[in-house]
Amino acid sequence: EDVRQRAATGPLPAHPRVDELVEQAYRWAMPDTSGAVADYIPALADADPELFGLCVVEVDGASHAVGDVDVAFSIQSISKAFVYALVCEELGHAGVLERIGVDNTGLAFNSVMAIELNDGHPRNPMVNAGAIATTAMVPAADPDARWAAVRTGLSRFAGRDLALDDEVYASEAATNQRNRAIARLLESYGRLEDPLEAVDVYTRQCSLLVTTRDVAVMGATLADGGVNPVTGERVVSPDVCRDTLAVLASTGMYERSGTWLFEIGLPGKSGVAGGVVAVAPGKAGIGAFSPRLDAAGNSVRAQEAIGYLSRALGLNLF
Ligand code: DON
Repeated sequence: EDVRQRAATGPLPAHPRVDELVEQAYRWAMPDTSGAVADYIPALADADPELFGLCVVEVDGASHAVGDVDVAFSIQSISKAFVYALVCEELGHAGVLERIGVDNTGLAFNSVMAIELNDGHPRNPMVNAGAIATTAMVPAADPDARWAAVRTGLSRFAGRDLALDDEVYASEAATNQRNRAIARLLESYGRLEDPLEAVDVYTRQCSLLVTTRDVAVMGATLADGGVNPVTGERVVSPDVCRDTLAVLASTGMYERSGTWLFEIGLPGKSGVAGGVVAVAPGKAGIGAFSPRLDAAGNSVRAQEAIGYLSRALGLNLF
């Protein structure tokens, strides 16, 4: 086997009790009811805070699931990771690096100040400014075609057709003045041509419905060097996977990325609906979902459960 076809280090340890460890991780995280459901997008405030799902999908397609793994929720910022990979696949390493950057801003995901401090450069593809600019780079003739390319691309990562949550989309579109301001600011620096169009496609991408199982398959595709282990389809190249995983390791959990990497040691990405994807390169994708978030916008139970699994299965990359 050509090792470059793998993002990293070979299959999950042949642990006879992976199912049991997934159960244990779930039970370990369940009692933690700290944090709060996101409410700055009105439709998200209605989420049932008790929902909790955890799923591991290995690079051979084997899956281990517990809890509410088939409940649909909006993908939100987890989409940033996969749109970034699709854009890297289309436009290549150097161009995306120059336009978007790869460094943690150290500031909140919706920070306007971060743009100002960086002379208008988004710097980080996993915060709203960088993600809106990344979505605008998806090659397409018009906004409808760009949205179709994003939806199709994310669906290939998930291995099934993902649908828009109309209610979440309408709710966020009516209340996303801050993202529109961020896009206008990028425009003022000459970094975005059609800011409102970019925000609209970005808002749609965040409103795609996924399940915890889908998120695990999406992560497993990155773990598998870009091949979806369920459909067998190559979605992106091994090099793009490596670039994406490096970005997720340094910036996937916003200003808590350092703490996450220190404690858990895996590339990961969160969304404000409560989903988290984590990737054990060459081994497995992990999806976790529970709506209560910490102050940075990361699901509390998802972090607890993935941390447990990282320790129990020896997944920490370092
Ligand atoms: O743009 C926003 O604010 C949301 N659509 C996504 C933010 C998000 O998921 C941050 N997450 N943890």
